[in-house]
Amino acid sequence: MGKTVRWGVVATGGIAAKFAEELRAVDGAEVVAVASRTEASARAFADRLGIPRAYGEWSALVADPDVDVVYVATPHHAHRKAAGLALEAGKAVLCEKALTLNAGEAEELVALARDRGLFLMEAMWMYCNPLVLRLAELVRDGAIGEVRTVQADFGLAGPFAPDHRLRDPAVGGGALLDLGVYPVSFAQLLLGEPDTVQAHALLSPEGVDLNTGILLGWSSGASALLSCSVVAATPMTASVTGSAGRIDLPHGFFFPDRFTLRRDGREPEEFVLDGDADRQSLRPEAEEVMRCLRAGLTESPLVPLDGSLAVMRTLDAIRDRVGVRYPQERATRA
Ligand SMILES: NC(=O)c1ccc[n+]([C@@H]2O[C@H](COP(=O)([O-])OP(=O)(O)OC[C@H]3O[C@@H](n4cnc5c(N)ncnc54)[C@H](OP(=O)(O)O)[C@@H]3O)[C@@H](O)[C@H]2O)c1
Repeated sequence: MGKTVRWGVVATGGIAAKFAEELRAVDGAEVVAVASRTEASARAFADRLGIPRAYGEWSALVADPDVDVVYVATPHHAHRKAAGLALEAGKAVLCEKALTLNAGEAEELVALARDRGLFLMEAMWMYCNPLVLRLAELVRDGAIGEVRTVQADFGLAGPFAPDHRLRDPAVGGGALLDLGVYPVSFAQLLLGEPDTVQAHALLSPEGVDLNTGILLGWSSGASALLSCSVVAATPMTASVTGSAGRIDLPHGFFFPDRFTLRRDGREPEEFVLDGDADRQSLRPEAEEVMRCLRAGLTESPLVPLDGSLAVMRTLDAIRDRVGVRYPQERATRA
């Protein structure tokens, strides 16, 4: 085990609690502080999870000399601000997906981290899953020939109440940034940034995307057919088909514990996750951050910032096609 890495958590919602709980099981990790917009919420979270320090404002947490790395778990619209604050205070940052509201904000954040020589990573835990890494390696090594098409979807039936953050355009609500980011990141892991982007969506009266179909194209002739939804429970599967075979990921494709490789003319091969179920959780992501920090890296080779920027550009293009613009963007671009 290397040097202890001391985490500070910003926000006290669902994923903040899950991540803080999982950190307790990671060797060499310690959650030393939590910050919330309110003192009471920070205190309740700290008491519940046995965290020593609770702050009622983000600036106090980022100024804490005992915090090595800040985990940002706010809604999307606040990622830029919270992560920026932490970087300006000289902290390393793991920021929830999607990295920011749009590509412009992501570029600012990445430039800030690179200028200061500080670690920044998008919490795209799918990229740290050992089986996703294995799949990408098989594809790179030509196990299915040249990739022709990727299919992936992530849809939840809800229903999400009108006041839920997923329905609120002001916080970057909608299916795309929360759920669509997984199929898009999956396709781009295998094919890189697309050359063409088409999309169709059902929008809510508030103007967020509820049900979105996406068609990405590459000049090689490859395509990806993706979807995300907060009004339909889709299979949540993925397939990658190449000129010489196919790989199928079952339900929960973004945290797989198995997949099937079908090489043309051969028996299907089953790949199953070794070891405990923790490998399927958020733990490999936390361990990757800690490995990078101990090695003095400012970027993770598993979740490179250029990849996150490319995903943000695709998400912007999709929103452009379907007519979703967050209120912050209307104010600045009008
Ligand atoms: N990796 C994953 O598996 C995963 C899963 C779910 C979500 N996520 C991502 O994590 C982020 C948060 O999702 P969540 O499901 O945890 O949401 P959530 O349960 O609604 O929690 C978000 C927290 O952010 C703070 N917050 C709420 N409104 C805010 C505002 N207007 N400005 C600043 N902070 C605000 C609140 O904490 P305080 O009251 O303490 O300030 C709230 O508890 C999103 O980016 C989402 O895409 C990732």
